[in-house]
Formats: sequence, C-alpha cells, structure tokens
Amino acid sequence: MKRHLLEAADLDRDDATLVLDTAAQIDQALAGREVKKLPTLRGRTVVNLFYEDSTRTRISFELAAKRLSADVINFSAKGSSVSKGESLKDTALTLEAMGADGVVVRHSASGAPHRLASWVKGSVVNAGDGTHEHPTQALLDAYTIRQRLGRLDGVRVTIVGDVLHSRVARSNVGLLHTLGAEVTLVAPPTLLPVGVGSWPADVGYDLDAVLPKSDVVMMLRVQAERMNASFFPSAREYSRRYGLDARRMAALPDDAIVMHPGPMNRGMEIAAEVADSVRSTIVEQVANGVSTRMAVLYLLLGGNA
Ligand code: NCD
Repeated sequence: MKRHLLEAADLDRDDATLVLDTAAQIDQALAGREVKKLPTLRGRTVVNLFYEDSTRTRISFELAAKRLSADVINFSAKGSSVSKGESLKDTALTLEAMGADGVVVRHSASGAPHRLASWVKGSVVNAGDGTHEHPTQALLDAYTIRQRLGRLDGVRVTIVGDVLHSRVARSNVGLLHTLGAEVTLVAPPTLLPVGVGSWPADVGYDLDAVLPKSDVVMMLRVQAERMNASFFPSAREYSRRYGLDARRMAALPDDAIVMHPGPMNRGMEIAAEVADSVRSTIVEQVANGVSTRMAVLYLLLGGNA
C-alpha cells in the first residue's frame, strides 16, 4: 500500500482487495461483540479536517478511528482559525506539530489532499475533494457490492445522474474497473464531464435501455450546490428521464441492487419507495463505511508497527 489514499488509482487490484478483505475480517471480529472496539491504533492520533459540510463521512471516519482506539481530533473549518484566513498549509503544519499520524481531509477544492500530503509526515486520506475523488466511498461501495452479490469481477454497474460534479462517480469508475467490474454511465449530456470518453466506462443516455442489463444501479445526487448554470430544464424533467422510480426498478434483473451514497434527494434522482425497498443497500453502505474506513486507517497507520 502507498502511504496516502488520495484517489482510487492509489490502489492496485491487490491493495483494493486487501482493504476489502481486512474490512470483512474487522466485521467478523466485531460481530456479536458487546464492546465494538479494537486496541490496534492505541496511542496514534487521527485528525479529521473537514472544510466542507458532511454528515455520514465525518461521523464514519470518527467512529472508525475510535473503534481502533486512536485519539481523534475533529476539526471543522467553522469556528477555527480558518475563518480568520489561515491557509491550508499553516493549518496542516500546526496539526503536524501536534503529532498527527493520520489526517483525513475533506475540502471543496479538488487537489487539496494532494497538497496536504506534501506538507505532512503522516498519512493523508482523501474524504472528498471538490468534484475530484472520494476513494473511501468507492471502497465501501465495492465492499457492499461484494457482500450482496458475492463478487465484483464481471459485475455490471450502472452509475446514473450528475457525473459531472460527482467525486463518488470518479472514484467508483476507477476502483470498480480495477476490480474487474463493467461500468456504464448514464446521464444527460450536460452532466457528463469533458473527456469522459477516456474513462474506463461505457456511456449511455437511455436509462430504460440499460437497466435490464445492470446488476447494480448507483444513483448519484443532483449536486445543486455545485451548479452555477442550468444543466437540465426542470427537476420534474430530470426525474422523468433519469430518476429511479418503482416502475423502472421493476425492469432490473431479479437480484440487482440499488445504491446511493447519500445524502438523497428523495423524489428527484430516487423515489422514496425505491430508497426504502429491499433492493436498496443505502443503509448497509453507511454501516460498511465504518468497517471499510477502519481497514484503511489500520493498513495506512500500520497498526502493529
Ligand atoms: C457524497 C459526497 O460528499 O461526495 N456523499 C458522501 O460522502 N456520502 C455524495 C454527495 O454529496 O452527493
């Protein structure tokens, strides 16, 4: 494994499989235990550096570090010296001086974790940078697919919606390809990035045509906060063409699953009855996020070293 986890490409097939297998071992070790805690990272310090809003990812990393017995510092830009204009570099050096072994960072600027990695001695884990990457989301998604379907190799994964603004899509395309899955992107042309043709994925525009050939449908949130222009005529029109409702879900093969990284716009990209159906893995994804992040922290911070 590399020292940092900044993007999906940092993991080759063996590394990615090691993370998933380690997460499975952690799940097994903790199953049925009353005290869900391992002593592995006792004496280590993990800093959660969140410059952008987050609910599940921040809590998930915090819980993961705590379940490994690390000391955890939660830093959010609001209420810190960042609001006084302190730069990312000075913040990083301050944390470094306090002896952080691992820094988990979320930032609205694509590439911020890469910069950070050049300033600190500890391991940097990217928890989402701008529209760039979100590698631990891709790992927990891969873990969830493997858990539900028993394999990743040859699994047909369709990723639907706001690919343009989605770091989840970018990381998933990379990691799923590394792990042997076949990815298809379905989106309105306005929500596909320039250069998508060079991604290791097929591109389609007709959701109804792709659904019967999908083992996994991953719905993306329409990221209105990143949109500075009108990318589609109306919410209703978007939902009609690219939303997953019960009728569309019925076109999936019998054992196909429906995923969403959260937070969801219910009624927009996904209907409530789909989100709450037995095919939906949305709650499992959140649970698997904790064990997958435990595996990442354990492997990067070298628990036994
Ligand atoms: C995603 C994110 O922040 O990139 N959410 C998450 O981490 N679970 C996806 C999103 O915001 O739509």
